[in-house]
Formats: sequence, C-alpha cells, structure tokens
Amino acid sequence: MTARIDPSSAILLFDSGAGGLTVLAELRALLPEAPVIYVADNAGLPYGEKSEAQIAARVAGLLGRMTERFKPRLACIACNTASTIALEMVREVLEIPVVGTVPAIKPAAAMTQTGVIGLLGTQATIRQGYVDRLEARFASDKKLLRLAAPGLVEAAEAKLRGEVVNTDIVKRSAEGLRAMPGGNRIDTVVLACTHFPLIEDELQQEFGPDVRFVDGAKGIARRIESLTQAQEFRRGRPDFALFTQNGQAIDAYREGFARHGLEELSLV
Ligand code: DGL
Repeated sequence: MTARIDPSSAILLFDSGAGGLTVLAELRALLPEAPVIYVADNAGLPYGEKSEAQIAARVAGLLGRMTERFKPRLACIACNTASTIALEMVREVLEIPVVGTVPAIKPAAAMTQTGVIGLLGTQATIRQGYVDRLEARFASDKKLLRLAAPGLVEAAEAKLRGEVVNTDIVKRSAEGLRAMPGGNRIDTVVLACTHFPLIEDELQQEFGPDVRFVDGAKGIARRIESLTQAQEFRRGRPDFALFTQNGQAIDAYREGFARHGLEELSLV
C-alpha cells in the first residue's frame, strides 16, 4: 500500500492559527524531506471560545476541502481543541490517516514527583470528556488541575508576529493554577494547546525553574513518522501555508512562518 503513494504528496498540518508550528518543528526534526502544507483557520481563531458544533463543522469542512484539493498522504490536526472535539468525525470524513493532538497527561503523570499536575488549555479543551478519559486512564492516582488560559493563545500569536508578549497574561495563568486547591504543589504542567510551547520561555519565567512543561508535539511527530514509514518523500514545490482570511494579517506572520520553512503564505 505505501509504495503507491506519490513521493510529492504532502503531510497536511492544520491548526486555527500559528500553534501547529510547534508540531511542524518536531516533524521537521524527524522527517526533514517531507513536503508540508500548513493550513491555518485564522478566520475561526480562537477555537477555544467556540462551541463544539461550530468547531466540528469548521474543521471537518475545511479539512475535507483541503484534502480533495491537495491530496495529502496524511492529515495532522495540530490543535488540541479541534482534536479533542472533532478527531473521530474527521477520521470518518477523510480517507487518509488522521493524526490528532492529545493533551500530554500520560507523560506528565510519569514525570510528576509531587503528584500534582497543572494543565493549561483553551476553554473548549478543558471541558472535554476526552480529557476526563485521559485523566481517568493515566492520572487517576494524581491530582490534575485544569485551567483555561485563552489569553495565552493571543500572546503566542503576538510573539510569532514579532510583537512583545504581554507578560501579565502569562503571569495570570501561573497564578491561576497556583491558586487552585493543591496548586502550590504543581511540579509539572501540561501545555494542552499547541500555541503554548511558542511562549514556553515566558511561562517558565512565571512558573519558576522547579516546574517542568510537557506537550504532545514530539509524540505526534513520532506517530506521523511511524505511519509514513517506508514511504518516499520528494518536494515537488516549496512548502507553503494557507490561511482562511486576510492579506494584511498574513503579512505580519511572514517572518515567523519563514523560520519554520514556510516562505509562501496565501489565502485558501
Ligand atoms: N492551537 C489550538 C489548540 O491546540 C487552540 C487555539 C485556539 O483557541 O484557536 O488548542
């Protein structure tokens, strides 16, 4: 089956914005030759403040169209919010392998010494049954404290645009987790939004050196590597990114995306 895949067929990475770049960075480290198409649904950003129905409809619709148009070999939903809500639905719609993003509760449970784990995600992610099930399966003997940190998504987007990060917002998320019962014993924090590793330095600054962060990007890259094992890769054209809205806003992202090997940015 794998032998028949066109070597120039891309891996499609999808997020609401720039967060999926943190997954792309890990993917490039493992599969530098793999052609990549990055799709950012910035017209829908932030997903975290939308309803489940809105997110599922956007993600399934857009990925369906992109898959028909570009015939990727695999799609990766590089977004925790979209994955925890719509992964199963997207898998039913697309005929290619779909890799999702799972909040890294399992590795965090293995890392924590104090038994208290913080989890930062979007409003929509932290209320998902998907997260309840991960907690029950991998961290039932730990304390998992979840906090919605919507401001961090914009902080990460701003940093990628080359703007100064609002450290008050970062500080509020650290204080918010610490203020929860048992929060002062947190030693491990799950970054359950692909945007957040973009501001990991700022988060580390606020949480202090004794807290470690864990995210799913490396695991996703490994999963993609294993699903494309023995497949050939050859770039037919430079990797590129597509946005669902607006020229001027896209310009502000050029440098940040170019650092991730995405020189050509345009509209869907
Ligand atoms: N990057 C997305 C995630 O991993 C969320 C950003 C948003 O709220 O749109 O959850």
